[in-house]
Amino acid sequence: MKRRDFLKGSAAIALAAGSAPLAKALEFPEQTPAPKAEESGRLIASAPLLENYAETSMGVAFAVSALANGYVLVGEKPDLSDARKVKCGGYRLCDISDKVIQVRLTGLKPATTYYYRIGADRIHYGGGYDMKIIGNEEDPTVYSFTTAGKKARAHFCVINDTHVQWDVFSRAIEKVQQIAPSCVIWNGDASNTEETIEAQMKIFLQPEIERTDYGARIPYFFCPGNHDNRGWANRHLENVWMYRQPEERPSRDWDLGRNFAVRMGDVALIGLDTAEDKLDSNPVFAGLFNSGPYREAQTVWLRDTLKRKDISSAPYLVAFCHIPLFDPRPDENPGDIAPADTAPGYKHNWAAWQRTCSRLWGPILQKAGCQVLITAHQHRYRFDPASDTGQGWAQIVGGGCSLNDSSFPTVIEGEVKAGALHITVHNAYNGTVCGEHTFGPRRHKR
Ligand SMILES: [Fe+2]
Ligand SMILES: [Fe+2]
Repeated sequence: MKRRDFLKGSAAIALAAGSAPLAKALEFPEQTPAPKAEESGRLIASAPLLENYAETSMGVAFAVSALANGYVLVGEKPDLSDARKVKCGGYRLCDISDKVIQVRLTGLKPATTYYYRIGADRIHYGGGYDMKIIGNEEDPTVYSFTTAGKKARAHFCVINDTHVQWDVFSRAIEKVQQIAPSCVIWNGDASNTEETIEAQMKIFLQPEIERTDYGARIPYFFCPGNHDNRGWANRHLENVWMYRQPEERPSRDWDLGRNFAVRMGDVALIGLDTAEDKLDSNPVFAGLFNSGPYREAQTVWLRDTLKRKDISSAPYLVAFCHIPLFDPRPDENPGDIAPADTAPGYKHNWAAWQRTCSRLWGPILQKAGCQVLITAHQHRYRFDPASDTGQGWAQIVGGGCSLNDSSFPTVIEGEVKAGALHITVHNAYNGTVCGEHTFGPRRHKR
């Protein structure tokens, strides 16, 4: 048997036996033609987007138009004379992609400003022994970012439910630029239903707005919404929005790449993922969703994370998730109506709020002294005081994606100043302030 035939036979056996790693290893050269490198045109196809703000690391993602190995030059000097080059990919192989380059910068100092540029080598891939660099491109712009940490400026913004509405997104982004916070939490439903990586790239890396470098200097978090799970491509949001490195969290939590717990000045920021707004048992999902166990795994993560010294010592604890954990209206679906999200007395056949998550996470947040939970999903701004939620924390529900007086988009700004956490809710449709809320430091024993 010729070696090539043997390899093909082995692949068939491995696939039949369900050997995923071997099948994956053989898949690229044997079954999927390598993407062709374009010979001309711009290789770097977007501004960088800073993903997953953190104390000692930072993600940089950007789009490319042809097969490339991308990198970031990063240093503390504005002229980059001290820069080091960090390539995309992990330990064993550097990555090549004809769509999205993702570089995670690690080993950074907390609350420190770094300068960076992005670049990419154009790669010819003709086979395992036929690989060449056929060009190089660097974005001439030197960007900068500042890492999180105890000494960082406690100032954040929240946007949500942008739903690929460019005008809405643009208005929210312009308000964020004007505020210039230390970081932004994008609180879900950036998507509608996205079937292709190109559609995901358009949302995050190549938006149809004037300020296409919206995330090149202000770092972002992403708390997924129910719509960010929908569509073939969104089954892998990591196509465009990286996880932090596995070594940045305990092995038990490797798969919880959307959760975050980051100290920013006097505030601890906690990110949770409420997942889908329908039950896993709903026939419309064909058994392809696993939100229940995911929420329980996050509960264990949350309990342990709130004990972390940097988090427990923060005077302010602010949590974020897409679907609200409280609703004052009895006819709003709480997301646990088995088996298919319908029952008399509820207005919708999807969750307007998440009672399961509320029961799992609410008491833990209460015990930790969380002052406020910032949510989204309902497309209408609302403030629920702690006395209403009955769980010690107040809830803010961010606005919607319509340019009108009821479902207007909001930019929620939080800042610690004069011994208090001030939250200002900006109406991004008409430019007014629609809510102002002040919270004192946590009183629990830290
Ligand atoms: Fe939404
Ligand atoms: Fe939603």
